[in-house]
Amino acid sequence: MRREYHGRPLRRADLDADPLLQFDRWFCEAVAAGLPDPNAMTLATVAGDGQPSSRTVLLKARDPAGFVFYTNHDSRKAREIAGNPRVALLFFWPGLFRQVQVRGAVTRCSVEESRAYFQCRPRDSQLGAWASHQSMPIGSRAVLETRFAETQARFADAEVPLPPFWGGYRVIPQQLEFWQGQESRLHDRFVYTRAGSRWQIERLSP
Ligand SMILES: Cc1cc2nc3c(=O)[nH]c(=O)nc-3n(C[C@H](O)[C@H](O)[C@H](O)COP(=O)(O)O)c2cc1C
Repeated sequence: MRREYHGRPLRRADLDADPLLQFDRWFCEAVAAGLPDPNAMTLATVAGDGQPSSRTVLLKARDPAGFVFYTNHDSRKAREIAGNPRVALLFFWPGLFRQVQVRGAVTRCSVEESRAYFQCRPRDSQLGAWASHQSMPIGSRAVLETRFAETQARFADAEVPLPPFWGGYRVIPQQLEFWQGQESRLHDRFVYTRAGSRWQIERLSP
C-alpha cells in the first residue's frame, strides 16, 4: 500500500533559529493534535562492541540544556551510556507526518534533580522502580511480584526514597533534524548543527 504524506510544508523561513524552540513548537502541536504518547521517544545507544540497541523512553523535561529521561542506572542502556555517552533520540508523530532526530551526548542528572522528580511519581511507580532489576534476567513474573510485595512492606507507611540505582539522564544535543512529510516523497528536511554558541541550519534532500 502506498502512503502519501501531506503535512503542512516546512520552509526555511518557518524555522526558529534555536532548534530547541523549534522542537517545543512541534511538541506543542503534537500535544494539541491529541497524538498518543507524544513524549515517547526512541533512545539508541551503542555497546562497546559497536552493537546498537534502541528502546522507547519518555521525555520528562525539555530544558535549555537538553532532553531528560529517567531510568535504572544498571540497565543495559545505562551501562552502554557509561561506556559511550553518545546517543540518538527519535520522535515520530505520525498524525502530523513529522519526525525529529536528536544526536548528542548524555550526562547524568544530579541526585537532587532525580529525587525531585521521583518524589512526584505515583507511589506504585516508585515501588516498581525499587522492585525491578531492570534488564537483568528474571525467573518468572512471580519473582517480580514477590519483590514488589517485599518493597511495599519495606516502605509501609513511609515515603519511598529515591533508589540509589535510579535517576535522570540529560541528552545534550549536537544535532537536531526536523522531517516534515510531503506529497510525492518531496519531504522537507532541515538539520541544525551546533557551531560554537550558534546553530547552523541546512536543508537536506529527502
Ligand atoms: C511507551 C513506553 C515508555 C517507556 N518509558 C520508559 C522510561 O521512561 N524509562 C525506562 O527506563 N523505560 C521505559 N520504557 C521501557 C523501555 O523501553 C525498556 O524496555 C527498558 O527501559 C529497558 O531497556 P534496556 O534494557 O535497553 O536498558 C518504556 C517503554 C514504552 C513502550
